[in-house]
Amino acid sequence: MTFTITWYGHAVLAIETGGFHVLVDPYLIGNPAAAITPDKVAADFILVTHGHGDHVGDTVEIAKRTGATVICNAEISKWMAAKGLKTHAQHIGGGYHHPFGYLKLTLALHGSMLPDGSNGGNPVGLLLTTLDGQKIYMAGDTGLFGDMHLIGEEGIDLAVLPIGDNYTMGPADALRAVKMLQPAHVIPMHYSTFDVIRQDAAAWACQVEQETSAKVHLLKPGESLTLSPIPGMREFAEKQPDRF
Ligand code: NI
Ligand code: MN
Repeated sequence: MTFTITWYGHAVLAIETGGFHVLVDPYLIGNPAAAITPDKVAADFILVTHGHGDHVGDTVEIAKRTGATVICNAEISKWMAAKGLKTHAQHIGGGYHHPFGYLKLTLALHGSMLPDGSNGGNPVGLLLTTLDGQKIYMAGDTGLFGDMHLIGEEGIDLAVLPIGDNYTMGPADALRAVKMLQPAHVIPMHYSTFDVIRQDAAAWACQVEQETSAKVHLLKPGESLTLSPIPGMREFAEKQPDRF
C-alpha cells in the first residue's frame, strides 16, 4: 500500500492512504495558491489543525457535500457539529485508531480563534501513523518548540513544515525543526501564498539537504509525493501495537 500526499497550496494537504481520502485544512476559496476547488476535492475525513480562516477554509461546504467526518480539537468539533457536520473530537497528546490510521494530535504554538470569533481551543499538529506504520508529521501553524525532539523520537518518515515566517516558523527555525525531527522526507508549506510569507523555498531546500540527511520535496500546488512502505513494515507494526 502506498501513501500519497498532495499539496494544494498554502496548508492544504490531501492524503490517500488505505483506500481513504484524508483532507487537511481545506482553505480553497480565497486561497490565491489553491490548485483545486471545494466542489471537486475528495474527502472521507477532514482534519482541521486550528480555527483560523486559512485552515478551517471550506471545511463546512466540503463535509456537507462528501459526508466526511471532521477530526479536530473539542472546541472546533463543537462548532462544526452545530453546523450539522459529523465530527470526532480529540485533544493534544491523544491518539485514536481511525480507519485510515492512528492519528495523534500534537502541540503547536499558535492561535486558534474561529472565523466568527468563537473559541477555537488550542491549535494542534498532526502525527499520523498509517496502516503500514509510516509516520507522517504535519506540524500545522506553529513556531519552533523544543518538544519536536519528542516527536522526532517516534521516527518520522515525512514532516510537513511551515516555512513562511511572520505567522509561523520561518526558514531558519524550520531548519532547526528538521534537525530535531530527523525526518527522511520534508515538504515545506505555508509560504508564498501572500507577500508577507514569501520565501525562497529552493534555497531552503538546499540548506536543509546540506545540513541534514532529509530529502526535501518542493511541490508546486497540485503536485504529489508518494511514499512506498518498507516491505514487512505493516506486519511489524501489527506485532507492536504499543509502539504505534
Ligand atoms: Ni493560523
Ligand atoms: Mn495559517
